[in-house]
Amino acid sequence: MKVAAIKGFSDILPGEVESWQFVEEKAREVFALYNFSEIRIPVLEKTELFSRSLGETTDIVEKEMYTFVDRDAMGTMLPPGPGTIRGSSLTLRPEGTAGVVRAYVESEMYKIEAVRKLFYLGPMFRREKPQKGRLRQFYQIGAEVLGRGDPFADAELLLLLRDLFEMVGLDGLTLELNSLGCVACRPRYREDLLSFLGERGKKLCGNCQRRMGRNPMRVLDCKEEVCSQLTGGAPSILGFLCESCEDHFGTVKQLLGETGLEFKLNPRMVRGLDYYCRTAFEWTSPRLGSQNAVAAGGRYDGLVEELGGPPTPGVGFAMGMERLVLLLAMKESKKAARPAIYLVWVGATARVWAFSAAHRLRRAGFSVEIEGEAKSLKSQMRRADKMGAQFVLIVGDEELSSGKGILRNMDSKEQFPVSLDRIEKEIAARLETNTD
Ligand code: HAM
Repeated sequence: MKVAAIKGFSDILPGEVESWQFVEEKAREVFALYNFSEIRIPVLEKTELFSRSLGETTDIVEKEMYTFVDRDAMGTMLPPGPGTIRGSSLTLRPEGTAGVVRAYVESEMYKIEAVRKLFYLGPMFRREKPQKGRLRQFYQIGAEVLGRGDPFADAELLLLLRDLFEMVGLDGLTLELNSLGCVACRPRYREDLLSFLGERGKKLCGNCQRRMGRNPMRVLDCKEEVCSQLTGGAPSILGFLCESCEDHFGTVKQLLGETGLEFKLNPRMVRGLDYYCRTAFEWTSPRLGSQNAVAAGGRYDGLVEELGGPPTPGVGFAMGMERLVLLLAMKESKKAARPAIYLVWVGATARVWAFSAAHRLRRAGFSVEIEGEAKSLKSQMRRADKMGAQFVLIVGDEELSSGKGILRNMDSKEQFPVSLDRIEKEIAARLETNTD
């Protein structure tokens, strides 16, 4: 019986995984340059962590979380039936910020050093409609700076992302920037926006009519043609910023100007999570179609306190791996890893010799593949070629008795006799000249 993977959950197979490893490696490099430390947080958290931090009325919390009741209460011991399950409600993390902040508060990291620059990578889960660049299990590389409220931290994160895109060879991305104001200035904007929407309310899509009362700013983000037309002339949040938000945003823009990082103001960018305030941003690519955001984030100055910590500002981003890799694949495909040496053996004694030689070579740092079946020399050579091995070492009874094996350079097709008792050295020398 064949069992297929779940819709929206996909495998990352050899051939593809090399691009992922390449991006992860570059991300680690850039995080080291900016002095970020890695944090690994659980995939599963209490549901309330997400409903409290992302917001009860966001799309994610309302309809996209993978939530289930754990078997940790007496109720689960009863025979199944309505109302018998009374365990805790758990959720597969739909994003990383909430978990990182929970860990920061729970471990009291702030007591040792208030400013923490953390990064994470791993899978997130959202029950969205799968399409190109949108999965139900997707991977993010994210970063959070906790304890810095100044605009220099926002600009530094944006520069880090720009550097990362450059290091992986990605161009053609647009940085869209907005400020979402703060608790002091947003209510005034909300009122103004509500009265603007009020006149058009009945004509908006059903989703927006529902959203309007709770979070009218989300209406500006609606992808429905009718909504974007109706709200074309909506008031801009940027006209309502208080002095301190205005200063903050002004400095972010100035710093980006100083460092030559181009951006496009997008006062309609709202972001789908409630924890944001002030700076919000998205890096988009027109090559991705409708799911065009490769990375996104912003400031969330109230979240640490909301989750029980001391008042601590925060700012961060997350980058979608699938989307980034899609863009890289449009440029070039990374070569699959190739073994340095393929061990071809003929005969049972040679097989045993080759088995322990492979182990020795691997311990000496070479990537080695060894033939697993008693196949003809010709078919073994064909496999080695298909696998892209750089060298083939051929050993049979004759080679074992003479103490000399045959080493074939698969690129140049040259062959050399090599002493079997010092193959590590012989191969190291040949590999060196081969890669020169
Ligand atoms: P987000 O905008 O929800 O923000 O997601 C960030 C990025 O994750 C998106 O720009 C996209 O590249 C990728 N992404 C999101 N959903 C999917 C999906 N279903 N399939 C594939 N890729 C997806 C956050 O998650 C915030 N935690 C970012 C942040 C960190 N803000 C502050 N700190």
